[in-house]
Amino acid sequence: MPDSIQRAVEVLKAGGLVAMPTETVYGLAADANNVLAINKIFSSKGRPSGHPLIVHIAQPELNVPNDQQATSVTWQEILSQWSRDVSPEALILANQFWPGPLTMILPKAKNVLLEVTGGQETIGIRCPQHPLAQQLLKEFGGGLAAPSANRFGRISPTTAEHVHEEFPGNEILVLDGGPCDVGIESTIVDLTRLDTDGAVILRPGAITQTMINHALDAGVEVDRVAAKTASTTSKSDTSNTSVPRVSGSLSAHYAPRTKLLVYDPKDAKSIFTKANETSGFKQVAWVHFPKDLSANESGPKNVTKELVLPVESRVFARELYAMLRQLDALNLDCIFFEQLPDGIEWDAIRDRLGRASVGSGL
Ligand code: TXA
Ligand code: MG
Repeated sequence: MPDSIQRAVEVLKAGGLVAMPTETVYGLAADANNVLAINKIFSSKGRPSGHPLIVHIAQPELNVPNDQQATSVTWQEILSQWSRDVSPEALILANQFWPGPLTMILPKAKNVLLEVTGGQETIGIRCPQHPLAQQLLKEFGGGLAAPSANRFGRISPTTAEHVHEEFPGNEILVLDGGPCDVGIESTIVDLTRLDTDGAVILRPGAITQTMINHALDAGVEVDRVAAKTASTTSKSDTSNTSVPRVSGSLSAHYAPRTKLLVYDPKDAKSIFTKANETSGFKQVAWVHFPKDLSANESGPKNVTKELVLPVESRVFARELYAMLRQLDALNLDCIFFEQLPDGIEWDAIRDRLGRASVGSGL
C-alpha cells in the first residue's frame, strides 16, 4: 500500500478528514460511522447540517468476474449494510454503472447515522471509479461519507490544488489523484418512490436519464432473481414520505464570486452594449464557442480575458469548473458566457452553469 494511502487510512480511522479524488470531483471524506468525524465535514465546509452526504463504498472483489448473478448477489449483500430495502432496480443500476458517476437514493438501513442522511430515512450511496478512491475505500474497509471538497455553495474542486485553495492550511490531508476525468458531480437518482414515480433524477450528471431508463428497461432477469433470493429485508416499507434535500438543487450553487452572465449569441450585440452602458464594466471576460469569423461577430467591450470553449460536451464538463475558477481569480467585473447548445448531453452542464450564474456575484 502506498504511504499516502496508509496515512489517509490512519487519519480516517482517527476521525479526521481526507480529500479524496473521485472521477467526478474531489470529495471531503470521513468515516461514515463516526459522528464526530461527520460533524467535522459540516463545520469545515460551512454546510447546513440538514444537507445529507453521499456514502462512498468499495467495489466488491469477485471470484468469478463477469458472472452477472454473482455480481448481483454481491451488490445485494453490500448494499444491504446501508439500505433496508435493496430493490431489483438498484441492483440493475449498480451492475450497469458502478463503479462510476451515479449516486442512488435508497431507504436507509437502521444503523446508518442520521447525521449522514441529514435526518432523513434515505441514504445516498455511490461506488466511485477513481483508482485512488477505490484503493482508499478498500484499505479503510468501510463507507466514507464525502461531499464535494469545497466551501458550501462554491465551485466543486476538480484538482488537488483546487482543494488546497478551498481549505488553506494543513488540517486536511489531500490525496492527489490528478484532474478529475468527468469533472461534474455524479448523477443522483432517487429509487425510493419507484412504485409511484419510477426512477427520478434529482441531479443530472454524466449518466443520463436515457441511460438509466434503458438499463432499467433492459433489466436482466438475473438481477431480479438475485434480488429475490438474496433479499433479507422487508419489502413492505419502501415508502419515503420525507422530502429529499439536495443542496445541488438550490438554484444558486457551484458559483463564482464574479458575476456570470450567460448570453444567447442571437442577442449578443444588444446584451453587450446594454451591459456596458448600464454597468460600465471596466474589465470583462468573454467566453464563447469557436466563432465563424466570416459572420463578423464581435465580443463585448473591455475584454481582458477571452476563452474559447470546447465543443465536445465531455471535454467541456471536464474543464468547466477549472475554467470558472481561473476566471474568478482574475477579479473581473463580469464573465460573458455563451449559452450551451441544445441536446441531452449538455443537460448536466446546463444545470451547473445555470446555478453558477444565479449564485454568481454574491
Ligand atoms: O460526484 C459526487 O457526487 C461528489 C463526489 C465527491 O462523490 N459528491 C458530491 O457531494 O457532489 P455533495 O454533498 O456536494 O452533493 C451531494 C448531493 C447533495 O446535494 C445532497 O443533498 C444529495 O446529494 N443527497 C445526499 N443524500 C441524499 C438523500 N438521502 N436524499 C436526497 N439527496 C441526497
Ligand atoms: Mg457539492
